[in-house]
Amino acid sequence: MLAVIGGSGWETWSSFQASRDMSVDTPYGATSAVIQLGTINHQPVAFLSRHGPAHNLAPHQINYRANIWALKALGVTRILAINAVGGIHASMGPEALIVPDQIIDYTWGRAHSFWSDQVMHVDFSKPFEGALRRQLVALSQSRRLGLIDFGVYGCTQGPRLESAAEIQRLKRDGCDLVGMTAMPEASLARELNVDYASLCISVNWAAGLSEQCITMDAIFAILNETRPMVQGLIEGLAAD
Ligand code: HPA
Repeated sequence: MLAVIGGSGWETWSSFQASRDMSVDTPYGATSAVIQLGTINHQPVAFLSRHGPAHNLAPHQINYRANIWALKALGVTRILAINAVGGIHASMGPEALIVPDQIIDYTWGRAHSFWSDQVMHVDFSKPFEGALRRQLVALSQSRRLGLIDFGVYGCTQGPRLESAAEIQRLKRDGCDLVGMTAMPEASLARELNVDYASLCISVNWAAGLSEQCITMDAIFAILNETRPMVQGLIEGLAAD
């Protein structure tokens, strides 16, 4: 089964027909929200709002382990993560849709592994590699959607946005986009052998790369503008 983890601005969405709310007891505590089981165009899909139904959990407060563990327990085999990001690469300004292929983790203090009583080193050299990412890229190519199929995602701690100097450092490190939620989500999915791809929506130029101040209103306006295209992609993936 496909699951969608919705990020900011993706607490609910119209093409998903929810039929059941699942509260899953996990060894790690509560998930961000109940997991909704339902369909898109008659295909089964699970949906979880990462920041909670009222957008009340900041990136560092999210119980990533509970979320991934619960999805796996419900039979989810592939997760499409929707992530709002800031653009660093010249082609990744506001409204760009990006499917990153690499990640650098700058977060700290987040519970980031399921392994506590044995030493396990999961391979993470290609963090997003898998059938789901390939399907997403092929779908966008066949529909000529102009989705960008590369990018190093720099994952910062938040919840504040970065300073201009921090973005320059990320750029020197090779980051193309910056967000706060793909880690440890992506590596936890890998630990449980769940196929995980991220669809990033650029909602602003990263700090210092434009004259404009970054506002939540502007971010939510872009999330609304890009919604039909993102929904179309999810519908295509569910049908695959
Ligand atoms: N930085 C980090 N996370 C973000 C940004 C940003 O500029 N925009 C949306 N999420």
